[in-house]
Amino acid sequence: MASILFVCLGNICRSPTAEGVVRHRIEARGLSEQLEVDSAGTTGYHAGERADARMRAHASRRGYDLTSRARQVSASDFERFDLVVAMDGANHGDLADMAPGETAETKLIRYCDFVPGREGEDVPDPYYGGAEGFERVLDLIEAGADPLIDHVLKVTS
Ligand code: 4NP
Repeated sequence: MASILFVCLGNICRSPTAEGVVRHRIEARGLSEQLEVDSAGTTGYHAGERADARMRAHASRRGYDLTSRARQVSASDFERFDLVVAMDGANHGDLADMAPGETAETKLIRYCDFVPGREGEDVPDPYYGGAEGFERVLDLIEAGADPLIDHVLKVTS
């Protein structure tokens, strides 16, 4: 079973959306026996909470049910998961600092590296902004979902 962990700051907006959208694509493509996904935050500020109500409402309008409960990422997640996917540059830096040994080089990537034309960019934090920020999160995550699934299946086969 291949596995992906999505990581943002709070684990209540961006990474739960990535988890929900990518899981939706995994199910639509009949890959549920081959690939699993989870999400976490670099902080534990919102640990135990459901995804942000605004994020859930925007996701729901596109047909996604966000069911995750927030938790903080830990170094052991680098052993558990095949890929650890940072949503922005700050998350990437924090994860690189906590990754044991060489695992940062092999497992740590950025979500937008799989979004055509957006390589190296961030999935911007929508928490303090308006509706368009939540829509932007969904646009970027939808655009990268299939390329990311293809990539993890290739590197783990
Ligand atoms: P996320 O968004 O990292 O996409 O879950 C945020 C959630 C909470 C906060 C910031 C960003 N916060 O400052 O509490």
